[in-house]
Amino acid sequence: MEAYFLDFANLLLRWLHVIAAIAWIGESIYFVMLDNSLRSPKADEDKQKGVFGEMWAVHGGGFYHNQKYASAPAKLPEDLHWSFWKSYATWLSGFALFVLLYMANPSFYLVNPGSDWEWAANLSGWQANVVALLFLLGGWVIYNELCKRISPNMDRDGILSLAVAVMMVVVAYLSTQIFSGRAAFLLTGAVMATAMSANVFFWIIPGQRRMVKAMKAGETPNPLDGKRGKQRSVHNTYFTLPVVLLMISNHYSFAYSHDLAWVIMTLFIFAGALIRQFFVLMHAGQIKPAYPAAGVALILVAIWVGAPASSVDDEATTASAETSSAVSETEASESAAQVAASDGGAAGHAEQIVIDRCAQCHAESPSYDGFSAPPAGVVLETPEQVLRQVEQIKQVVANGYMPLGNVTQMTDEERTEIANWSP
Ligand code: HEC
Repeated sequence: MEAYFLDFANLLLRWLHVIAAIAWIGESIYFVMLDNSLRSPKADEDKQKGVFGEMWAVHGGGFYHNQKYASAPAKLPEDLHWSFWKSYATWLSGFALFVLLYMANPSFYLVNPGSDWEWAANLSGWQANVVALLFLLGGWVIYNELCKRISPNMDRDGILSLAVAVMMVVVAYLSTQIFSGRAAFLLTGAVMATAMSANVFFWIIPGQRRMVKAMKAGETPNPLDGKRGKQRSVHNTYFTLPVVLLMISNHYSFAYSHDLAWVIMTLFIFAGALIRQFFVLMHAGQIKPAYPAAGVALILVAIWVGAPASSVDDEATTASAETSSAVSETEASESAAQVAASDGGAAGHAEQIVIDRCAQCHAESPSYDGFSAPPAGVVLETPEQVLRQVEQIKQVVANGYMPLGNVTQMTDEERTEIANWSP
């Protein structure tokens, strides 16, 4: 029952997280679009007021006229709209999800028992939790130091972008070495997402507060505050697409369980940033298809890198395995009948291994603690169920993803047997 409530909490938090992220990213994309779409004001009166650019828009049956001031309007209105809760709500709900799902079960969600690094492979659950938190914190500290040291006056932002890109490759690499594949994708995404929210919390909003305060006191605001806010929000723009791709990738084991998962992740990050660049320029009136084309090319490389070694399998088997693994019990009877015909219904050696090592979790009522329903809807209690999902099983066993955290201690011989199994 407890597991059921936890799963439900997980669902509701995920809902909140996705909605907050949509609102935040939507706003971020909107403001970058607005900034890049500004045209010089037409009216002299506006120019005299200090308006530097304007955009006319029609939306939802109304006409909108946005104006951006070069520095500040002569008088600030009392009801200035600020944007920060969307960002904080996204980070807080994301972190809560991470605690509820990963940190509550670190030994199989965080620890990477197959790590080349012995210390990482042998982390206990709570140690893995501490390492994950340090990983997130360290990501922010290093990113922030790079910004402060490389481009303190916002005049070396090109070199800074390069440094941040290199940093993300290192983060991707380290995460896959230290953590299980799924956690690695999540944590690399979370390093970027944390930088985004921390940029808002530690720099953008305080900088804006200082600017507003100075203006209200009749002083000239420090231009560095404005420039720094812009620098960090530009970084945020390029983080958005990669973060979302990494967060949703953690439902796709072909990506995160691959030996070269860090390369796949790196390609995803650069592809996302390149595709974002296309839209940034498009709003400024420049159509540069080379950017999304390069992004797509990187995704194609990721598809090539990620292709399982044994992808030369008979396509017909793969296709039928895929359709039947849609875990629809009604469709199942048909293939089960085929299986029974070819196999006489008895469990072969390989099927028995799968049942022994997997059914603790993958059962209608899992006996493994903390599971209230079969994970990912995959049930592996009978030889028929196993035979119906052979391709999927071989994939996750061969790449070491399952059994999760190898908690049921599948041996190397068993793993090889399943990987080479062709029933
Ligand atoms: C400790 C519990 C546990 C054990 C043992 C376990 N699994 Fe899983 N399995 C999970 C969880 C949790 C998920 C869902 C993970 C996710 O969403 O990526 C999952 C997902 C899967 C999936 C779907 C993966 C996907 O990409 O959608 C397959 C297939 C799978 N397991 C097969 C197996 C096989 C085969 C074994 C035995 C060799 C096994 N599992 C053992 C917990 C377990």
